[in-house]
Amino acid sequence: MEFIRMANKKLLITGGAGFIGSHVVRLFANKYPNYQIVNLDKLTYAGNLENLKDVEKKSNYTFVKGDIVDASFINELFAIHKFDSVIHLAAESHVDRSISNPLEFVMTNVIGTVNLLNAAKNEWKENFSDHRFYHVSTDEVYGTLGETGMFTETTAYDPHSPYSASKASSDHFVRAYHDTYGLDAVISNCSNNYGSHHFPEKLIPLSIHNIKNNKSIPIYGKGENIRDWLWVEDHARAIDVVFHNAKSGSTYNIGGHNEWTNIDLIHLLCKIMDKKLNRAEGESAKLITYVKDRAGHDLRYAIDSSKLQKELGWTPSLQFEEGLEKTVDWYLDNEEWLNHVTSGNYKKYYEEQYTKR
Ligand code: NAD
Ligand code: DAU
Repeated sequence: MEFIRMANKKLLITGGAGFIGSHVVRLFANKYPNYQIVNLDKLTYAGNLENLKDVEKKSNYTFVKGDIVDASFINELFAIHKFDSVIHLAAESHVDRSISNPLEFVMTNVIGTVNLLNAAKNEWKENFSDHRFYHVSTDEVYGTLGETGMFTETTAYDPHSPYSASKASSDHFVRAYHDTYGLDAVISNCSNNYGSHHFPEKLIPLSIHNIKNNKSIPIYGKGENIRDWLWVEDHARAIDVVFHNAKSGSTYNIGGHNEWTNIDLIHLLCKIMDKKLNRAEGESAKLITYVKDRAGHDLRYAIDSSKLQKELGWTPSLQFEEGLEKTVDWYLDNEEWLNHVTSGNYKKYYEEQYTKR
C-alpha cells in the first residue's frame, strides 16, 4: 500500500542536516529518485552539511538554509516550492541544553512547528488529500516509567524536561491541526537513537570522543537510568514506512526493545573501545566518573512498538552490540568530522556543562 501519489513528489524535510534528519534525507534521496527533496535547516551547532556530502550532488536534492521560527520566510518557501508533503525533524534536541535555555526550545520546537503547520494549512487548504504533514517526535513526551511497563500510543503525556514539554506541545498542535482543520497529519514517537553523525553532546558519541582522548566519561547520578536504544537507520526506515502508509491522524511508537542502564551501556562501549584502540581490557572503564545528576532526570524509557510492527510490518534490523561496534568504527574512521564538530563553540559548551558538575 502506498498512501500518497509517488511520482514527482515535492517533499520538504526540515532538520535534514542533523543526526536523524541526515539519515532520512540520505534514505529518501537514494530510494526515491522521482521525489524532489528540499532540506530546510538553520545549521545550528547541531546541523552540519558534512553529514550529507554523499547526497549533495544528487539531482533530486536541494538544500535551503533558513529558520522555521521565521514565519514570513516559511510562508514564502511554501508559496515558491508548492510542497506536496513535509517530514518535520528540525528541533532543539538536547535535554541538558533545554534545562539551561528553555525559551530556545519553545521558539524552535513549538513556534517553529506551528509556523510550518500554518504554512501547510494555508497552501493545502483547497485539497488536503495528497498532502501529508509528518511530525517526528520523541518517547520523552510520555515522561518516565518505573521498573515495569512500556510506553504505548495511548500512554498519557507527562513530560518533565523543557525539551520534552516543548515536543509534547508541538505534538498537541499537530493533532489540533488535524482535528480542527482536517490537515493530514501523522506523528511518530521514537526512543533513543544511536549511530553515525550523532553530535558528541549525547551520551554515546560524547563517551566515544572522551575515551579516545583519555578524558573522563561523565555518568549522571548512579548510572542506573534506562534508555531503549535504536539504530538510527532503523528509525529512518520506520519514518519511510510511516510516511507512506500510516492513516491520517495516526500515531506510531518506534523503539528497539533494547533497554540498557547507562552504566552497563558504557561498560560495553569501553570494552569495544579497548579492543579497537588496542588497550588492555578494563583500561577505558577507568575513565568512568560519576557526576551530579541531571535535574528532573527520567528514570526509564521503554517503547512498545507492536502497533508499527503489526500494522506496517517494520522491525529493527540490528542487534545493539553489532550496531554499537559499527558506530565506534564510524567515529574512529571519521576523525576529521569529529574534530570539526568539537572545535570552537563545543569547548565552551563542554566547560559550562561539565566543569561545575
Ligand atoms: P539534531 O539536534 O541532531 O538535529 C536537529 C537539526 O535541526 C539540526 O540540523 C539543526 O540545525 C536543525 N534546526 C534546529 N533549529 C532549527 C530552526 N529553528 N530552523 C531550522 N532548522 C533548525 O536532532 P536529532 O537527534 O537528529 O533529532 C531530530 C528530531 O528527532 C527532533 O525533532 C527530535 O526531537 C527527534 N527525536 C530524536 C531522537 C534522538 O534520539 N536523537 C529520538 C526521538 C526523536
Ligand atoms: O528518548 C529519545 C530522546 O533521546 C530524544 O528525544 C532526545 O532528542 C535525545 O537527546 C535523547 O535524550 P536523552 O536525554 O535520553 O539522551 P542523552 O544522550 O542526553 O542521555 C542518555 C542518558 O545518558 C540519560 O539518562 C542521561 C545520561 N547521560 C547523558 C550525558 C550527555 C550521562 O550520564 N552523561 C552524559 O554526559
